Amino acid sequence: MEGPVTVVILAAGLGTRMKSRKAKVLHRAGGRYLVEHVLGTAQTLAPPERIFVVVGHQAAAVRAAIQTPGVGFIEQLEQKGTGHALMVAADRLSGLDGRLVILYGDCPLVRPRTLEGLVAAQESSDAAGAILTAVMDDPTGYGRVLRDGGGHVTGVVEQRAGTPEQLAIREANMGLYCYRAAPFWRHIQELRPDNPAREYYLTDMVEILHRAGHTVAPYRIDDPGEVLGINDREELAVVDRLLRARKVRELMLAGVTIEKPETVTVDPDVTIGMDTIVEPFAQILGRTTIGENCRIGACSVIRDSELADEVEIGQFTIVGTSRLERGANAGPFARLRMENHVAAGAHIGNFVELKKTRLGAGAKAGHLAYLGDSDIGAGVNIGAGTITCNYDGYRKHGTKIGAGAFIGSNSTLVAPVEVGEGAYLAAGSVVTNDVPADALAVGRARQVNKEDWARKRRSLGKESSR
Ligand code: UD1
Ligand code: CA
Repeated sequence: MEGPVTVVILAAGLGTRMKSRKAKVLHRAGGRYLVEHVLGTAQTLAPPERIFVVVGHQAAAVRAAIQTPGVGFIEQLEQKGTGHALMVAADRLSGLDGRLVILYGDCPLVRPRTLEGLVAAQESSDAAGAILTAVMDDPTGYGRVLRDGGGHVTGVVEQRAGTPEQLAIREANMGLYCYRAAPFWRHIQELRPDNPAREYYLTDMVEILHRAGHTVAPYRIDDPGEVLGINDREELAVVDRLLRARKVRELMLAGVTIEKPETVTVDPDVTIGMDTIVEPFAQILGRTTIGENCRIGACSVIRDSELADEVEIGQFTIVGTSRLERGANAGPFARLRMENHVAAGAHIGNFVELKKTRLGAGAKAGHLAYLGDSDIGAGVNIGAGTITCNYDGYRKHGTKIGAGAFIGSNSTLVAPVEVGEGAYLAAGSVVTNDVPADALAVGRARQVNKEDWARKRRSLGKESSR
């Protein structure tokens, strides 16, 4: 009976209080653009074809940040206020029947069930609209909700326009509305910029509808922390912390141990399996997936990577776009820079860097090595200080090391080069030619011992100092 829901998200403002060259809704909190969070919640209420984003400042960048096909955009070329944004949108939207839910792009905490409550509040009364309110300890900056003696909402007064008595009201407008489309669009052009800011305030619609004999029902929620808006960097940090806390809480409830969760950063799309332990200050980012029973060491950073079950990442280890199979381990202090594939049970120790390298099952690179563009077979041992020279100043070249080979410490492999299966490299070798399977390659100057040399040198020294 009430008809479909259309959602409008306001995202045209610059956000002066952010003191930024970037539009406010393009700042990130909880691992996403602010506007992405709002859009995500909006999608629980309406299909993309019924969602419209009002863009203005850096419109192209805001559009690009919104990847959902089907979402419509409305250009508000000049930003003359939140009400003006809807006056501009009227051309396109006033023909749509049903209900109109209006959200602000700088309010990323809003959850689906909060919106459902708002829509239900409008539905269950015969009101022309519902407005989401909350009592705040300090409502400074928010619009204040005006009520008459009977408790009916009569209007909203903005911070800059309020009298001292009005500003003493602690019930704030949180900036989420559900209106019946028909009366809303019938009255939208009545907004006037008669306030100190000379803006068209969307909030004035409450009073306009009230005066026209409609009611706007308040939907008061207990926790304003659900719908805080962001106007400056301090609020951005507060909201980021709240969003991060939501994600780690979700993971903990799903069986992940997170030590000092307030220090851990996990992006929204990350998944982590049961009984994995995440140590303090870890950052798990992007599209990372982590299996069960893993350990993610303190201060490690893992981005866009895939970790199977039982993987151990030591402290201070950086992993990017890499895949680690079951039981592999890396760190502490290792760097798996990009596009690596570490097979089951392989071991990467401290101060080892891998780039575009495949490390076979059970292979070990325990200390101080650079392995780039390399294909390293199963069970290979890479000695401390091994370097693949993969770059000749112009191009990158590959190194191939066959299964079971033993690379002595401080070896230098000048690529392109191939070491056959089961071969040995003597420590300190510089390898420029391929090594056959099962051979020993010694690529270093032979050692010469000069008997008594040191003793003679010392006595010579004594004579000359006399
Ligand atoms: C607004 C409300 C205030 C409420 C608060 C809740 C009005 C007049 N005031 O104030 O009552 O307590 O939100 O967070 O609505 N925008 C446009 N076009 C414009 C102006 C703004 O699209 O011309 C967008 C902004 O990009 C932003 C959103 O609307 O995402 C809110 O604008 P903002 O200036 O932050 O409003 P507040 O001052 O916070
Ligand atoms: Ca705001």
